[in-house]
Amino acid sequence: MSESATGVIDEKVVIITGASHGIGAGLVAAYRDAGFKVVASALSVGPSTDPNVVNVAGDISDSKTADLIMSEGVDRFGRLDTLVNNAGAYISKPFTQYTRADFDLMLSTNLAGFFHITQRALRVMEAQGWGHIVTITATVAEQPVKGVPAALASLAKGGLNSVTKALAIEYASRGIRVNAVSPTIIRTHPEASYAGLEAQIPLGRIGEIEDVTSAVMYLESARYVTGEISHVDGGQSAGHW
Ligand SMILES: NC(=O)c1ccc[n+]([C@@H]2O[C@H](COP(=O)([O-])OP(=O)(O)OC[C@H]3O[C@@H](n4cnc5c(N)ncnc54)[C@H](OP(=O)(O)O)[C@@H]3O)[C@@H](O)[C@H]2O)c1
Repeated sequence: MSESATGVIDEKVVIITGASHGIGAGLVAAYRDAGFKVVASALSVGPSTDPNVVNVAGDISDSKTADLIMSEGVDRFGRLDTLVNNAGAYISKPFTQYTRADFDLMLSTNLAGFFHITQRALRVMEAQGWGHIVTITATVAEQPVKGVPAALASLAKGGLNSVTKALAIEYASRGIRVNAVSPTIIRTHPEASYAGLEAQIPLGRIGEIEDVTSAVMYLESARYVTGEISHVDGGQSAGHW
């Protein structure tokens, strides 16, 4: 919470995309614990039962969904402090087996999904003179792993890592920080088997949702950090393993 010029305590507001499941659902809980009001978006999500959470349904790659997030969520709460670009897609295949549909899904969800809402959020942040953008990318984009072909993730998430630095520089003088969190395998689907995958990770275990949310909340409080790609990967990107 922060105190406005009139002495009124204002609650900060965050947009979280891909908020209905996995890391996104964990982020909604972490930001609510930190006192934020939340605009939570996902492909399919019903009305929220929490008056401090507005749910907005729609495909994040469609600019109309970004417009809805702003008009139904941000305009209603009256300010915007943080945007977390969490919605994303991941398809692992040998490169020559990717289909046109795989390509379209990976690029639209990860890149168009970033572009439309980030543009709208930055317009608000620029006018108010502060703000924070965090994007969830993926370690595999920078550190490909033998036996885990994921070139389309490199194409999409690599672009997000790159634009994080570009926007950090472009907006630094306007009081806006831009960071990324780059996770390795995170246990977001409890019913799935992660057997054997620990061998790829120096710390010897699969990541948990809380490992990612705690990194995002660190960046939230780290006022001198911008343009950072924070690896939450059990040491995977530190070197060969
Ligand atoms: N889990 C991992 O191992 C891992 C590793 C590295 C990076 N990441 C990245 O972390 C982020 C979150 O991953 P996760 O595993 O937590 O995801 P998840 O459990 O599969 O949940 C995905 C969320 O994104 C929403 N979503 C998917 N496509 C969307 C679209 N086109 N428009 C709007 N919402 C959409 C889903 O909404 P619905 O539920 O309504 O479909 C859901 O809320 C992603 O960017 C992912 O690439 C994950």
